[in-house]
Amino acid sequence: MEIFKQYNELLNPFLEDFKITKSPQNLYLPIDYILELGGKRIRPFLTLMAAESFGANPKEALPAALSVEVFHNFTLMHDDIMDDAPLRRGKTTVHEKWDINTAILSGDAMLIRAYQLLENYPAQMFVKLNQLLSRTALEVCEGQQYDIDFETLNNVSQEDYIEMIRLKTAVLVGCALKMGAAVAQASEVDCQLFYDFGIQLGLAFQLQDDYLDAFGNPETFGKQVGGDILENKKTILYHLALKNGNKLQQDRLNELLNSEDEIAANQKITEVKALFEITEARSATRDLISHYMKKADEKLGAISISEEQKQKFVSLKQWLMNRDH
Ligand code: IPE
Ligand code: IPE
Ligand code: MG
Ligand code: MG
Ligand code: MG
Repeated sequence: MEIFKQYNELLNPFLEDFKITKSPQNLYLPIDYILELGGKRIRPFLTLMAAESFGANPKEALPAALSVEVFHNFTLMHDDIMDDAPLRRGKTTVHEKWDINTAILSGDAMLIRAYQLLENYPAQMFVKLNQLLSRTALEVCEGQQYDIDFETLNNVSQEDYIEMIRLKTAVLVGCALKMGAAVAQASEVDCQLFYDFGIQLGLAFQLQDDYLDAFGNPETFGKQVGGDILENKKTILYHLALKNGNKLQQDRLNELLNSEDEIAANQKITEVKALFEITEARSATRDLISHYMKKADEKLGAISISEEQKQKFVSLKQWLMNRDH
């Protein structure tokens, strides 16, 4: 996307310098591999944009931006083991290309390197950013644990689900924005508003991720379409299908999403997706994404930055809602 071009041009050389070309290769190569697969780079762009929106030079926010992106990529490396995922950004996942032990240890090293990047800041700022990242990182672990726990539970409420995605996904989006605001020495109130904006944006983002996991185009999605269904994930589509479906549909969905491989993968995906369609969970998910995007607008509206700066976040939001990967 055009507005991201300038941020990409800042981030790429910084990322290049970040690489470690020393042994052991089996520790460091998978890190380069996953980072080179790219991805949307939403989180670091948000950090740079937030810093810039208060008049700071976005370069000052580069170490924080990359720290968040490296942390995010670490979570993906481990998440793909947990979700038994074969594909990431259109390529083989690290634990399948190498092996599980490699993905565990390279992931650990990435987490450490994410923290090291914050050492680029003076003491006071370092402590502030470090505290924010630690709190966020622990919350992401909590969210990931709930996500796994929910696979084998069928009494999870929609409220529990929203709290789970707040933890596993939204807090890191909030953290990315708040870090940018903090680097720009924005007021506590504005830092918090940016964080809150990130939470709402992050919730919408994860709902869209759930949506694409079932209804994305395999050509562009870059991950295995139907992967959540195969893993019995209780995504938003499941919750809305249960809410809107009749008893027969509810029972069948629960049966399918609590089953252990008794049914062929393709058949399971087809049947679950048909239930998501017939119960109108598919369109209800789109509505819920719009709902959280509106809540994000309210938070954005209250931040003390110019309308011109706000417009950049609005464009980004629109791009996110229409994304195909
Ligand atoms: C994937 O994040 C994991 C979620 C929190 C949904 P992204 O969709 O931002 O992944 P990349 O970095 O663009 O590949
Ligand atoms: C990802 O959730 C959350 C974290 C990695 C912390 P998902 O499991 O839905 O992410 P994808 O779909 O694999 O990218
Ligand atoms: Mg996953
Ligand atoms: Mg997961
Ligand atoms: Mg997903």
